[in-house]
Formats: sequence, C-alpha cells, structure tokens
Amino acid sequence: MILEAKGIKKSYGNRFNRTEVLKGIDLEIEKGEFVSIMGASGSGKTTLLNVLSSIDRVSSGHIFIEGEDITAMKDKKLANFRKNDLGFIFQQYNLLDTLTVKENILLPLSIRNMKEDEVEKQFDVVSNELDIHELSEKYPNEISGGQQQRTSAARAFVHQPKIIFADEPTGALDSKSASNLLNKLKQMNTNSRSTIMMVTHDATAASYSSRVIFLKDGLVYSTLRKGDRPQEDFYKEIMSTQSVLGGVGVES
Ligand SMILES: Nc1ncnc2c1ncn2[C@@H]1O[C@H](COP(=O)(O)OP(=O)(O)OP(=O)(O)O)[C@@H](O)[C@H]1O
Ligand SMILES: [Mg+2]
Repeated sequence: MILEAKGIKKSYGNRFNRTEVLKGIDLEIEKGEFVSIMGASGSGKTTLLNVLSSIDRVSSGHIFIEGEDITAMKDKKLANFRKNDLGFIFQQYNLLDTLTVKENILLPLSIRNMKEDEVEKQFDVVSNELDIHELSEKYPNEISGGQQQRTSAARAFVHQPKIIFADEPTGALDSKSASNLLNKLKQMNTNSRSTIMMVTHDATAASYSSRVIFLKDGLVYSTLRKGDRPQEDFYKEIMSTQSVLGGVGVES
C-alpha cells in the first residue's frame, strides 16, 4: 500500500464558527493505482487532496505514505518530503513565465545533486512521453493551454515521485486537449506504475482512472472500480452514480 488515510477530519473556521468539511475519511491506495475523486462542488475534494498531499494539515486522523505518518512530520521535513516524493498538477498550469518549457520541467531536479547526463535523460523520457520535446526552448506564453498542461504534467513526473496529485487538471482544457492529457497520464500510470490521485468533476476524465471515489457530506459515499470492462461501460456507471449524487451541483 502506498497511501493509507485513517479517520481524516478537517474543519475550517474558529472556535465560535467551525465547519467540518471532512468528517472521517478512510482510504487505502495501492501503488500503481489511478484514482479519481468526485463529488459535488463544495463536497471537500480539494480539501481532501490538499491534506493527503501535505499542502494542508488535517484536524485529526493520520496519513501514511509508504508507511510514514506525514501528519506527524514537522513543517521542514514535510516540505522536503513534498518536494522530493510528490508531484503536483493544478488546474491553472502554474508554470513560471520567465523559464522555458525545459527549465520549468527540470525545476524539481534542481534541488538534487543529479549528474548532468542523468538530468538530460530524465528530461528526454518525460518530454517525449508527453509529446512536448520539440517545445523545449519555448516559453509558456508561446505554447497552447494543452501544451502548457502537458509541460506541467512532465514537471510533476520528472523526479519520479511516489504519488502524483492532480486537482482538476483538465478543468481549463478543451475536450481534445483534455483527452490528450488523460491518455498521457494513463500511459505514464501503466508504463511506469506511477500512482495518480486526481480530483475531477468530469465523468469522462474519471473514466480514465482505475477507481473512482465519490465524496458526499464529508464522507466517502461510494467507490467504483473499472476492473476489466471497457472504459465506456465504466463511464456509464460513473454517470449514473453522479446523477444519484446530484451531479456536479453545489452541495447544500
Ligand atoms: N481555507 C478555507 N477556509 C474556510 N472554508 C474553506 C476553505 N477551503 C474550503 N473551504 C470550504 O470547505 C468546503 C469544501 O471545499 P473544497 O474546496 O474542498 O470543495 P471541492 O469539492 O473541491 O469543490 P469544487 O468542486 O467547487 O472545487 C466548502 O464549503 C468550502 O467553502
Ligand atoms: Mg476543488
């Protein structure tokens, strides 16, 4: 097991006005899984991803990544852990405008003592897998949104992290760029057994993953597994679960 979450609770606010967003979530994620997290707007998807990925602290509960309890780590150790062992893809690409595609992708390696030829090799691998190798010397404002998001995906994978966390990675993309990115993520997931956790409100995007976890009222509502069936069948079941849940509407 690569990630285990036990009794995760998260509240916001002060002691007079508190809202409990996550009310006790247990999860077990195996190495090599591609998991989607779905649920209505406001159901706590981003909050869950942020605590699992150590961007934010839990109010109570424990999160183990490869057996290590990250909720017990001090800030400095946690920051290093995040940089070394995790990869991130956000809805708004988060690329640095003053760096080229290649420089952006290599950022996670800059904190390491890696040999130049190893760095080049890693760059070649991820940039070819994400089909952006020929854009190496371009700047983010010279390439399309889809290419920018594939650049940010390459940056998330380049240091071979234990887990990739993606919050609505296709949220700003047209459907063709979205399916292109999802195919690449799926390919990286299969080829290099990378573990991916992705928040999405899009049933099509979720159908690329191997398991979908639905949140409702701060708890896990249900879980669907793709198994061996065709993606189309999985998509249909995701759609029907979503409609029972109230679709992408706002949680009341
Ligand atoms: N920093 C914060 N301070 C206070 N409340 C917050 C904070 N972050 C989120 N919330 C509240 O927690 C709840 C869950 O928010 P969250 O962003 O996790 O939802 P989500 O499922 O990601 O929604 P969306 O689909 O709209 O992105 C919402 O009611 C939100 O207002
Ligand atoms: Mg969100």
